[in-house]
Amino acid sequence: MRAVLVAETGGPEVLRLQETEPPEPGDGEVLIEVRAASVNPIDWKYRRGLAPKQLPAVLGSDVSGTVTRSLAQGFAEGDEVFGLAASGAYAELARAQAGVIAPKPADISHEQAAALPVAGLTAWQALFDRGGLQQGQTALIAGGAGGVGHLAVQFAKRAGAEVIATGSARNRDFVLGLGADRFLDYTQEEPAALTGSVDLAFDTVGGETTEALLPAVREGGALVTIAGAPPEQAAGERGVRAELLIMSPSSGQLGEVARLVAAGEVRVEITQRIPLAEVARAHELSESGHARGKIVITVA
Ligand SMILES: NC(=O)c1ccc[n+]([C@@H]2O[C@H](COP(=O)([O-])OP(=O)(O)OC[C@H]3O[C@@H](n4cnc5c(N)ncnc54)[C@H](OP(=O)(O)O)[C@@H]3O)[C@@H](O)[C@H]2O)c1
Repeated sequence: MRAVLVAETGGPEVLRLQETEPPEPGDGEVLIEVRAASVNPIDWKYRRGLAPKQLPAVLGSDVSGTVTRSLAQGFAEGDEVFGLAASGAYAELARAQAGVIAPKPADISHEQAAALPVAGLTAWQALFDRGGLQQGQTALIAGGAGGVGHLAVQFAKRAGAEVIATGSARNRDFVLGLGADRFLDYTQEEPAALTGSVDLAFDTVGGETTEALLPAVREGGALVTIAGAPPEQAAGERGVRAELLIMSPSSGQLGEVARLVAAGEVRVEITQRIPLAEVARAHELSESGHARGKIVITVA
């Protein structure tokens, strides 16, 4: 099969499309003929050596395609599935455990499905499992135009929350179009001005942004970050719970998120579709930190 391999850490040029042995599914796993994958920032963090990964490796977690072999109950050859690949999704074939994939609804494309796993699960778990967001509460979402953020804005709105989202001016109409009630241009406005009015701040940006969100959160509220260390001490002093979420695979939540997309209740923004042979270009775009929605890799 053809796959994009990374043999050494470095710039996008270390991503090399080449012939390699296909992965072998083990018990409880399926082999997927990949139709689409998508890029997450962790992919280029691995490539650059900013996060540990044994090399050589095929990168990419998000996958959608057709089962060509199944050693797992509940899945058979020919099933269309999407989820998290165990062997790397930037490839013509990928291996995945049954517990981290779900049937792809017929109403959504492989490209849409491949955009959902990491971003969708992360947004869902941050808002509801960790953030405990309830109808009528106010959620502040930092990075409302990104892969995770654009889904979070829609999930929060659908759950009946008041949604305030941040981004740069060029994303104002996009984010308001997703249903956000209010948009803050982070180059012009500080979230601190929302003093204590927010029940949940969800940080998808990291760095200085994480702590800058804190004054906006009410006493007893929560700050959930996915992009760095939570400011536990400063949060504790304000009576705010601050936590880092690491996404956990969930077949059930994958199914739930895909149903919302299939029903037209949530839309997936695909900013670019890039062929497997040009993954380096996809990484450059993701690494810019300013991609809107998701970057999808088309495979077959
Ligand atoms: N912990 C976990 O389990 C987990 C899971 C998934 C992702 N993550 C991490 O979460 C982060 C976000 O992931 P992602 O896939 O959503 O990334 P992404 O799609 O690359 O995010 C890009 C978006 O960030 C926005 N942005 C950049 N700087 C900003 C700022 N200062 N304030 C507000 N928005 C800003 C950009 O909007 P503008 O162009 O308008 O600036 C752009 O739309 C990454 O660091 C990723 O590694 C962690």
